[in-house]
Amino acid sequence: MATLGIFVDRQTLSYSKKLVMLMRFRDVAESLGHRSYFIFPVELKKIAKLDALLIRSRTDPLNVSYMAARMAVMHGIPVIDNPEAIRICSDKVNMYLHLMRANVPIPRTELLVRKEIFPADATAYFDQLGAPVVLKEPSTSYSNRVKKVHRVEDFLQTARAYLKMADELVVQEYIESEEDWRIGVLNGRFLFASRYVLPRESDQVQAVDSEEIPYYGIEMVSEEEVPGEAIDLAIQASQAIGSGLFSVDIKERQGKMYVIEVNDNPSLESGEEDLYPDIFERIIVGLLG
Ligand SMILES: Nc1ncnc2c1ncn2[C@@H]1O[C@H](COP(=O)(O)OP(=O)(O)O)[C@@H](O)[C@H]1O
Ligand SMILES: [Mg+2]
Repeated sequence: MATLGIFVDRQTLSYSKKLVMLMRFRDVAESLGHRSYFIFPVELKKIAKLDALLIRSRTDPLNVSYMAARMAVMHGIPVIDNPEAIRICSDKVNMYLHLMRANVPIPRTELLVRKEIFPADATAYFDQLGAPVVLKEPSTSYSNRVKKVHRVEDFLQTARAYLKMADELVVQEYIESEEDWRIGVLNGRFLFASRYVLPRESDQVQAVDSEEIPYYGIEMVSEEEVPGEAIDLAIQASQAIGSGLFSVDIKERQGKMYVIEVNDNPSLESGEEDLYPDIFERIIVGLLG
């Protein structure tokens, strides 16, 4: 019998769907003959006594979950997500550099590193990448600081705002996709597949110059429904970051695939278990052997 710690915080516990997911992890661990308990941020000391640690609260190098991951490594305890994955995935510049180095196809991407930015700079990016372009502040999550900009003025306004928060920005070709895949990978092996779907209200195309990226819903799909190329690409992209548990966002345009993002700490409360019943078991076995 081994002991699995599941690192959580108040935020994780405040969503009923996340709570159900956490209880599934606990129940599946028990059904496999293991002990499991939740570890809260004030209980970091308990990590030393675990056999494995699963982080299920938001990961970010500035968050206590990162400390938890580092403590696990320090004590030689297997951990998902590992600190290296957290560091890379929480910084889009670092993440894209890893993907580029591994020759993973991504949208055409430039780094904007200057402190001041002028109309001629914006024009140069539009000339190079086409219009619109997508601007990203590297620490963004949940599309918080990702914007599609069509014109020089919007580019300057958004870039200047983001440059107050970061030294570098990502400027990216806009991919008008027919399909948006979200594929789960565990230790380099396919884990689950889903697609992003636009909610009905946002379906109409708005003639605006600068847009927020809309919120997408998630629909689980069977492995057979996903092009094999997307699955291979998800695995390749995850391996460019490391081993562990990831979800990989892929846009498909005219049969071509582009990796948009590799996420550590993927959410697992969108019905993953309904189509992939062994998902929690595979994660636990992956950690505890
Ligand atoms: N190059 C792009 N072309 C088109 N849409 C994009 C592009 N990059 C991002 N998006 C859209 O914006 C969303 C958020 O971007 P992402 O890079 O995943 O940042 P975040 O970490 O904030 O989620 C994506 O899920 C995707 O729908
Ligand atoms: Mg994203």
